[in-house]
Amino acid sequence: MSDGWTPSSWRTRPAAQQPEWPDEGRLDDVLKRLNALPPLVFAGEARRLTAALGEVAEGRAFLLQAGDCAESFDSFSADSIRDKLKVILQMAVVLTYGSGVPVVKLGRIAGQFAKPRSSPTETVGDRVLPAFRGHIVNDLAPTEEARVAEPERVIQAYNQSASTLNLLRAFTKGGFADLNQVHVWNQEFVASSREGRRYETIASEIERALRFMAACGIDLSAEQNLHQVDFFTSHEALLLGYEEALTRQDSLTGEWYDCSAHLLWVGDRTRQRDGAHIEFLRGVKNPIGLKLGPSATPEEAVELCALLNPSREPGRLVLISRMGADTVEDLLPPLVEAVRDAGHPVVWECDPMHGNTYVSPSGRKTRDFTAIMSEIRSFFAVHRAAGTWPGGVHIELTGDDVTECLGGGDDIADLDQRYETACDPRLNARQSLDLAFQLAELLRS
Ligand code: PEP
Ligand code: CO
Repeated sequence: MSDGWTPSSWRTRPAAQQPEWPDEGRLDDVLKRLNALPPLVFAGEARRLTAALGEVAEGRAFLLQAGDCAESFDSFSADSIRDKLKVILQMAVVLTYGSGVPVVKLGRIAGQFAKPRSSPTETVGDRVLPAFRGHIVNDLAPTEEARVAEPERVIQAYNQSASTLNLLRAFTKGGFADLNQVHVWNQEFVASSREGRRYETIASEIERALRFMAACGIDLSAEQNLHQVDFFTSHEALLLGYEEALTRQDSLTGEWYDCSAHLLWVGDRTRQRDGAHIEFLRGVKNPIGLKLGPSATPEEAVELCALLNPSREPGRLVLISRMGADTVEDLLPPLVEAVRDAGHPVVWECDPMHGNTYVSPSGRKTRDFTAIMSEIRSFFAVHRAAGTWPGGVHIELTGDDVTECLGGGDDIADLDQRYETACDPRLNARQSLDLAFQLAELLRS
């Protein structure tokens, strides 16, 4: 690239939120090994996602991005991947059926391992320990040894991403995501609930419609879109050595792609204009996400749009606002108006999770379902007032029957029953479905 970008040009800039590796030499060896391993995704797939997001930017589709806050080396199983996929497929069906708008499905999965932290240390009892930075770096156990950054974990994260992606491809292309399976996606603990029954009604209507079309003589077996879905992957591009090692030059176009996922986003804590994360992401051709929290100014937002998407390609850039339910109606309009007036064709996505986290009296990090819904409603209101398209949502969820967020679905009040997250609190499958039904109503109106 003529403007000085290379896969390693980020190394000349300050990089926030990087771990302290006790042995940089060992890290370099690991990154060299990683650089020799196959890419996880292909450039052509990333281009397909850009095209799909282009439809969102133009107001003709909706983006559903969802998955764990942090994937874990410990709770890694085929069942948990399948169950997460089930919830996302269910939500997509509810949204598509309820609003008639096509839904782009994007997982926070197959690479979402590295976590930014508000403090580099954590106090446990009377000891001050290095913070947990995600399983790609260290372990959650509250001991000095567990918190040491271990380079070999980077390879394990790559391997877990590869096998997760392999299973996702099998599920989404090999029959499991077939629309004839809509009933199968409803897990037992969900099916017995109010949302689950509401979902069953939609699933039965879809079945009837498919039977009707077949009876009219339409050859449904030839309609690939009924039998397969495009499911894309994403994670926060936080650990830049890992991202650099998986960045490859596309043989078709000569462009550079970060082949660790289809979409990479930059977090609210690492979006400094002169920082390493923005430098790295501006040069890869993948679609890019940018988190914008309460401290983001309109000038900053417009400048970052120009840096990350100078050619103003629709679908290249997703702006992810995460303001908090109480402040979104004040803080978001100036950003939306500035980006709109500067003529940048972005996807606007609402992350209603990260601005609404607090610690419960029992010491658990949690979120209220009502605050999450309230931020989404305000996000829609802001965009309707500005004449822009509320393009998507960014949700932390799991297919498991956990109790991490309060309210919603079966009205969870006791967090201690099944609080399992390694990082932020996630919606369970019933709460996620509840959210999808309310969101479909908003999209329809
Ligand atoms: C996240 O998405 O898990 C996260 C840390 O978000 P943010 O950068 O918005 O705080
Ligand atoms: Co999170």
